[in-house]
Amino acid sequence: GSAAISIDPNRLLSPIADEIYSGFTEHMGRCIYGGLYDRGSPLSDSNGFRKDVIECFKELNCPVVRYPGGNFVATYHWYEGIGPVEKRPKRPELAWNGVETNAFGTDEFMKWCKAVGTQPYLCLNMGTGTLDEALGWLEYCNGERDTYWANLRRANGHKEPYRVQYWALGNECYGEWQVEQSTKEDYAKKAYQWAKALKLMDPSICLILCGELGYVEWDRYVLGECIKWIDMHSIHMYTADKEHMANATGPLAGERAIEICASLIDMARIKSGVEKRPKICFDEWNIWDPVRAPGDKGAEELYTVSDMLAMGVWCNVFIRQSKYLGMTNIAQSVNVISPLMTTKTGLVKQTTWWVYLLFAKYMRGTTLGVHLKCGKYDGRTNPKFIQSTMDTPWLDVSAAVNDGYINLAVVNLHPEEEITVDLHGIPDGTEIQEFLVTGKSLDDVNTEEKTTVKIVENTGIWGSEYSNNWIFPKHSFVLL
Ligand code: AHR
Repeated sequence: GSAAISIDPNRLLSPIADEIYSGFTEHMGRCIYGGLYDRGSPLSDSNGFRKDVIECFKELNCPVVRYPGGNFVATYHWYEGIGPVEKRPKRPELAWNGVETNAFGTDEFMKWCKAVGTQPYLCLNMGTGTLDEALGWLEYCNGERDTYWANLRRANGHKEPYRVQYWALGNECYGEWQVEQSTKEDYAKKAYQWAKALKLMDPSICLILCGELGYVEWDRYVLGECIKWIDMHSIHMYTADKEHMANATGPLAGERAIEICASLIDMARIKSGVEKRPKICFDEWNIWDPVRAPGDKGAEELYTVSDMLAMGVWCNVFIRQSKYLGMTNIAQSVNVISPLMTTKTGLVKQTTWWVYLLFAKYMRGTTLGVHLKCGKYDGRTNPKFIQSTMDTPWLDVSAAVNDGYINLAVVNLHPEEEITVDLHGIPDGTEIQEFLVTGKSLDDVNTEEKTTVKIVENTGIWGSEYSNNWIFPKHSFVLL
């Protein structure tokens, strides 16, 4: 039968947290050094901050940036990255087998956040770090009294507290790749004690628990033990596949993870008699194949049109699931697994950048209910075990209402066919703005030499230039 999409502007589902467009910058590969911080580059300001990168964060209106890791944080001592730069020690770094010069540290990051107009989100070292050290960092950042670390911040030239709101209780502490990997029992016990102490130091902070994929035993257990002390639960997922359809539908596994995780949060609340309902902080997500782009080589991905469609699905997932999401952080924001690449002379905006940018600009406000009717793909998906419980229509859709405008995001996943859709319910005379992102083939990429994939923009009036039976080109992303 024919395909149809109808949006009901009165069916307001849930507010979309602006924080779903948050970023993540880790001391990894060229994310910090050579990415947002590039001292000596003609493209940098007097602080060594790349001006072109700052402009991109501003264009995205990026509300929060997570820092300094990631896996990096498990051996990071924040106090080695403050004070006079020449006195800061160089350290071997165990996550990515690098050397950390500590030239960029807490005060530089805070200054950079201010330049961007974004809020910092700090991840605590629960590997080699101690609770004392974590408390010291919180005091250094947020302390207002006459105490040692707060005074050291003042002595370093920062009179006002930074008032860092977001703090994570470690990163991927379950992982066998982690320095001081923990069992769920050990982690929950430690997180409980740390959370209590951190909240004594500063009750206003938002504490984020370290979850895993959202749907595994680790998540269930740590939520059950710690829910009363935490404000959000973090989950991570990267998707990628060599086959286009498995690649582009991969983020639907993230959607299922959110749904399952939301239920685990409710179960933990019921068990613990906790009224508040912590949201999910999806603080690492993206398209990443670590074999194609290994972490210890800087994880510099080269994104295709298929990946661009996967980006559209990732973002649609976040719009559809907005009621459960307090924050999501693209991993990462610059150079490492990123839509945005710096070169010595400028920036490369990869295929995925344009879709992410359109979402960040327009898909805010409130999620709208959408009815979709179209054909379905029934081939292989990845990861199969949770995604196969879902339908996989050829079109992946979400809608939002923002500032009086209705925005509809449509990914046509089909590798070969355009899909004609009956778009009913739009009154004649409505002004339509159309943004299209596609490429000649699924393998097209953008490079330093050539931006082949980017936004093509059109406008018209419904009833004259545009009408029902909208054609969504094969392997394309369209925002109306
Ligand atoms: O973003 C790259 C890495 O992926 C992060 O450091 C880690 O948390 C995850 O395994």
